Amino acid sequence: VRVRGGAGAALALAGLTACTPTASTSVPPATASRPTAAEPMSDPAEYAIDRVSRGAGERIFARTGIGDPYRTGMAYPIFLALVRAYPDELGADMAALAAKFGFTPRAADPASDDLDVREGLPIGMHLTIDPNTGVPWLVGSCALCHAERVRWPGGEELVIGLGNKRVRIHDYDAALVRIGDRGDLDVTRIGELADAAAREHGVAWPAEWQLPILQRTVEGLRERSEQRADLVARTAGGPPGRVAAIESFALAFELALGHAVPTGDTVGWAKVPDVIGFPVRTTLSWDGAGQGPIDALVVEADFAAGARVEWFWDHPLQGASLSAYLRQPAPRRAFPGTIDRALATKGARLFADHCSGCHGDYAADGTIASYDETVVPLADLGTDPARAMAISDAFVAAGNDKALTKGVVSVERTGGYVPPVLTSVWMRAPYGHAGQWPSLRFLATAPGKRATTYVVELDAPLDLETVGVRVAADHAPLAAGEHRHDGTQPGLSVLGHPFLADLGADAAAVIEYLKTL
Ligand code: HEC
Ligand code: HEC
Repeated sequence: VRVRGGAGAALALAGLTACTPTASTSVPPATASRPTAAEPMSDPAEYAIDRVSRGAGERIFARTGIGDPYRTGMAYPIFLALVRAYPDELGADMAALAAKFGFTPRAADPASDDLDVREGLPIGMHLTIDPNTGVPWLVGSCALCHAERVRWPGGEELVIGLGNKRVRIHDYDAALVRIGDRGDLDVTRIGELADAAAREHGVAWPAEWQLPILQRTVEGLRERSEQRADLVARTAGGPPGRVAAIESFALAFELALGHAVPTGDTVGWAKVPDVIGFPVRTTLSWDGAGQGPIDALVVEADFAAGARVEWFWDHPLQGASLSAYLRQPAPRRAFPGTIDRALATKGARLFADHCSGCHGDYAADGTIASYDETVVPLADLGTDPARAMAISDAFVAAGNDKALTKGVVSVERTGGYVPPVLTSVWMRAPYGHAGQWPSLRFLATAPGKRATTYVVELDAPLDLETVGVRVAADHAPLAAGEHRHDGTQPGLSVLGHPFLADLGADAAAVIEYLKTL
C-alpha cells in the first residue's frame, strides 16, 4: 500500500477551473521522460481504458471525470464532515449544496446500486473507491459544468454537454478557501464529524487511514486557501454559468512556474459553452486561443484542476476516448414549441446569405454540414473584449513555456471570438461568450436599443417566444433564482454582433429558422 506516511493529497474539488484553450501543465504521454511521483497515486480500476471508445469517453465526461483523485478530489467522509461543520458555507446537505452552487441536483435513491445515486450527488460529482484505502473519494466530471436540465413550458430534459447556466464554480471555490482559512478547521473536530458521517452513510473509513488522510486534507485546504485568495477576491460576486477561465489557468501557471502571471485588468468571464460543436472545431475556446492536438486540448480542464502529469502517462487513452464521445453527440430534442415552416424556409435563405459565412451550413435536422473555424476580430464584431484581452503577454509566455507544454500545445491572443456552431441553439441561452444576450429576440434588437441591465429568472422554464431565458425588467431586491445582469460592468457588455438586428423585420424569419437547428 502506497499511501503510508499520510501523503494522500486531498485537494478540494473546487480546484476546478475551466477547460480553457490554453496550454497547461499538460503533456501527453511519450513526449518526456517520466519523473518519479513525489506523492502516491490513487488509481481506481474504473479509470483503466483498454481501447479507445465512445463509451469510455462518455463515462469520463458524465461520470468519473479524468481522475487523479488525491489531487482533484476529497475523501468523502471528510467532505461530509465539512458540510456538517460549515452549513453556512456549503449548505446543510447535498440538495442545499446543489442549490447554493448551481449544480444539477439528483434525488437520492437509497435502493440504487449506484453509490452516486444512493448518496444523491449532483450530476457531475462522483464517488470513486480509492484502492489504497478503500475510502470513497469525491471527484468531479465534465458534466458538473457541461450538463443542464433544460425546462420549457410543459417539459424538461437533462442534456449532457449543454453548458450549465447556473453553476457558480467560483463561489464553491471561495467557500472552500474560507474554510481552509478558519481557525476551527482542525483534525480532531473534522475527524469526529467524519467518523460519524461515514457510519451514517455506511461508507468505508478504516481507522488506520483516518489520521493520515485528515492531516493531508487539512494541510491541503490551508495551502489552497493561500494560493487561491487573490483569484477568489477577483471573481467574487461573478455571474452564474460563467467561469474566469483565463484567470484560473493563469493561477495554475503561477503554481507550476513559480512566478506571477498577471492577466488583463478586467475578468474575462466565459460562459460554459455547449460542446455540441466539437466535431468541427479545431480549438476549444470562445476565442480560439489554444492550439494543439484536439485529444490534448480536451483533457486540459483537469490539468488546471490539479491532476498530475503522471496520471496522463498512466491513462493515455482518455483524451482520445473523450474525443470519440464528443465527435458523435447523442441526438438532441427538437424545439418543443411551434415553428412556422414557411417563415423558417424564408429564414433559411436569409441565413445562407447573412450568417453562414461565419456560422456554417446545416442539414435539415440541424446537424452541421460545413463549417470552417475562424476568429472574427473584435473590431468587426463589437462584442465585449474582456475575455479575448484577458490573455496578457505574460499569459502567452507562460502558456508557451516549453517546460510546461513540451511544445505540444500553444496559446496566442487572437483578438476576437469564434462563431459558435448553432445546432441546438434554442436550448443554449443565455447567448454569447459571456452569456450577455438572454434570448435570440434580444440579439435581434439593434445593439444600442438592447436593455443594458435586466433580471434573468434562472429557474423559470425557457421562454419559447423570445427563444431564451426568461427576463424581467431590472428590479430590486432580487427573488431566489433571479440574477441581475449588469451590462455596464466591464466584461459583460450586451453590445455588438449587429448582424441579426441588421435584418430588421426579416430577423424574425431567421429566428424561426434557428429554431429548426
Ligand atoms: C468548471 C467548469 C468546467 C468544467 C468542469 C469543464 N469545463 Fe469545459 N469549458 C468550460 C468553460 C468556461 C469553457 C469555455 C472556456 C473559454 O473559452 O474561456 C469550456 C469549453 C469547453 C469546450 C469547448 C466547447 C466549444 O465548442 O466551444 C469543450 C469541448 C469542453 N469544454 C470540454 C470539457 C471536458 C471534456 C471536460 C472534462 C474533462 C470539461 N470541459 C470540464 C467549463 C468547464
Ligand atoms: C462576421 C461573422 C458573423 C456573422 C456574419 C454572424 N455571426 Fe453570429 N456570431 C459570431 C461570433 C464571433 C459570435 C460569438 C460572439 C461573442 O460571443 O462575443 C456569434 C454569436 C452568435 C450567436 C450566439 C451563439 C451562442 O452559442 O451563444 C447567435 C445565436 C448568432 N451569432 C447568430 C447569428 C445569426 C442569426 C447571424 C446572421 C443574421 C449571424 N450570427 C451572423 C460571428 C458572426
